[in-house]
Amino acid sequence: MRNIVVLAASACGAALCPPAAVAEPQTEQGPVATTPASADARARQTLAQMTLDEKLAMLSGISGTAAMKADPREKRIGAGFVPGVPRLAIPDLWETDAGLGVATASGVRGDFATALPSSLATAASFDPSIARAGGAMIGAEARAKGFNVLLGGGVNLVRDPWGGRAFEYYSEDPLVSGIMGGEAIAGIQSNRIISTIKHYALNPQETGRTIVDARMSREALRQSDLLAFEIGIERGQPGSVMCAYNKVLGDWACENDWLLNTVLKEDWGYRGWVMSDWGAVHSTEKAALAGLDQESGREAERQSFFHTSLREAVSSGRVPASAIDDKVLRILRMIYEHGLVDHPTPAVPTEIEFEAHADVAQRAAEAGIVLLKNQRKLLPLSPRVGRVAVIGGHANAGVLSGGGSTQVRSVGGYGAELPVFSTGPFANVVKMNYHASPPFGSIARRVGEANASFTSGADIAEAVRTARDADVAIVFATEWRAEALDRENLNLPPEQDALIKAVIEANPRTVVVLQTGGPVLMPWLDRAMAVVEAWYPGQRGGEAIARILFGEANPSARLPVTFPASADQPPRPEAPGFQQVKAYFENLFANPPKDMASIDLNGGMTSLTVDYQEGADVGYRWYARRGWKPAFAFGHGLSYSKFAYSKLELPNGVPPAVTFTLRNTSARSGAEVAQVYAASGSEVPRLVGFSKINLSGRSRQTVQIPLDWRPLSTWDEANRRWVLPQTPITISVGASSDDIRLTGTVPAR
Ligand code: GLC
Repeated sequence: MRNIVVLAASACGAALCPPAAVAEPQTEQGPVATTPASADARARQTLAQMTLDEKLAMLSGISGTAAMKADPREKRIGAGFVPGVPRLAIPDLWETDAGLGVATASGVRGDFATALPSSLATAASFDPSIARAGGAMIGAEARAKGFNVLLGGGVNLVRDPWGGRAFEYYSEDPLVSGIMGGEAIAGIQSNRIISTIKHYALNPQETGRTIVDARMSREALRQSDLLAFEIGIERGQPGSVMCAYNKVLGDWACENDWLLNTVLKEDWGYRGWVMSDWGAVHSTEKAALAGLDQESGREAERQSFFHTSLREAVSSGRVPASAIDDKVLRILRMIYEHGLVDHPTPAVPTEIEFEAHADVAQRAAEAGIVLLKNQRKLLPLSPRVGRVAVIGGHANAGVLSGGGSTQVRSVGGYGAELPVFSTGPFANVVKMNYHASPPFGSIARRVGEANASFTSGADIAEAVRTARDADVAIVFATEWRAEALDRENLNLPPEQDALIKAVIEANPRTVVVLQTGGPVLMPWLDRAMAVVEAWYPGQRGGEAIARILFGEANPSARLPVTFPASADQPPRPEAPGFQQVKAYFENLFANPPKDMASIDLNGGMTSLTVDYQEGADVGYRWYARRGWKPAFAFGHGLSYSKFAYSKLELPNGVPPAVTFTLRNTSARSGAEVAQVYAASGSEVPRLVGFSKINLSGRSRQTVQIPLDWRPLSTWDEANRRWVLPQTPITISVGASSDDIRLTGTVPAR
């Protein structure tokens, strides 16, 4: 157990070290490297010169659109703006969304940016270098456009498969979420700008997101959603943490003393600053004392809690001046540490290498597309396959993207912008946007224009005819998700299920390509020969899909989320409160309001409590606990190659790593994602390590996978440390959570 404490402590990164102002952080292995003294020293030196007004001005920001109204000449309009202190060379903070690229902010800038695939696709690559490369690329674009804060790093667990923002998050598993999110953050910050990690914490659903009170035991929270943040902060060392809209255990996340002070700043030793989500502040004194450092998007609040009232709270002594100093020190420390002063972002946008950036997006898409099913080796297709019928999914126009604050207006503009609502107040506001990378064009280029046909699928009879006349049919399904809008269920739009069934019946040699924002049900699955999950595949998604279908790229991705077999398998079949909100909007559409500002996204609800009965058993752990079989398990994914596992070596005691031999038994080079699960006593298996290994045909390699034992441990609140179970640990190594190839047991600790 002692080494576990050392493990956790030695995992301390700069952003996690105990405040350097105190004694040098120590562990059994000696002093932990801290942030170069210069950042701390410079921050303290600047702080000492600041007036109270200047300090308070840094603790409250406005939204990008409010900044534009303030200065219409300004082109760096993104998500937010916080004024600096020119007298002391403290830069303004120009904040842009988000994790999939420099967001369009409703198009006010009129520019383009490179669109990464969804975070689920990046996570499905199980390749941290893909996450880091994607972060580095969007961070470079943020810098070139003049932004010095990129609000990326969404690591909330995909706890509910119908979640509206699932496409922006990485996984149901805390280790995958933390590692991939942390690497993306590190990539973003490699451009000498600041990233966030968000939404802290347990931002569970979009339905009623600004009122929901998320509840589970603190222990379970530590082992699930908080563990993703702990690992993400260690790996990425984000300059800022964004606290969430919802309540956690009865307290608003942005005034939650346990979350912000006890866990984040004390247990984890976090040295950056806590910014609120936009309009997520509910008090002045309570929030200030609970650990909130900066109010964001204050005009979205009923009143500004930090912009005006904080001064009075300080002068009355209810908020000590030392607390204001600590807040400003945290912001300044990160401004210096991440180079915002020494390497200011340009006031006028600079050149961007969009072609090279599109290559990064395409590599991420190819690494993240999951081959779910492939009977009788229907895939990969040969370019000489003959006539190919491409059907549905607007595949002649582009590939789908998700809605909300992450929306990127991709380079070259959208291939299609389709209304989400045909009537009502949002009719011309909310659109489903397709990046202009049409799969049909990429497919036709490979088989020859004369051999490729496209039909929209709107006319099923026509779709059936074209499928029947073809050698192979490729039918696309699209499921749109967006911030502030959960899916009502896990079904594809009904007309798409009908189309897929009809096409398969017309031609059994059918490939189904899904472009979804998360898990979906597949009532036609038994009759489908091949199914591919392409997620939202980004800037060059069509080309990436074609390269996988024709075998130019060997699929290597694995599911970062479980795909249920039926709607009643997940802990909650639909979002609590969904029907109330749905009824509210149905009425609203029938009686559109004069004033859009009067629309209540919470559908009239003023409170909503969700008890997370599953606790830390999120996703595959929930199914294991119940002995249920999903449609496709966490970690599942096929390849055009085959791999064999042998010779598992387990040293005595709790190993820091496992070693085994992996062999590519096929002639074709490919990549395997080897996963290590650990279970003990009554605890179901949990992922404690993974690695993606590239192997040329007929070759073998001894593989060593480092393990993180925290997923199997419990947090000892009294002694502030992770503790492993007392019972023997079963270690399982395999290609998926339901495809274990090697097992062994080690004694407890
Ligand atoms: C939104 C989102 C958050 C985003 C912020 C700024 O409400 O919850 O992810 O970064 O506001 O747009």
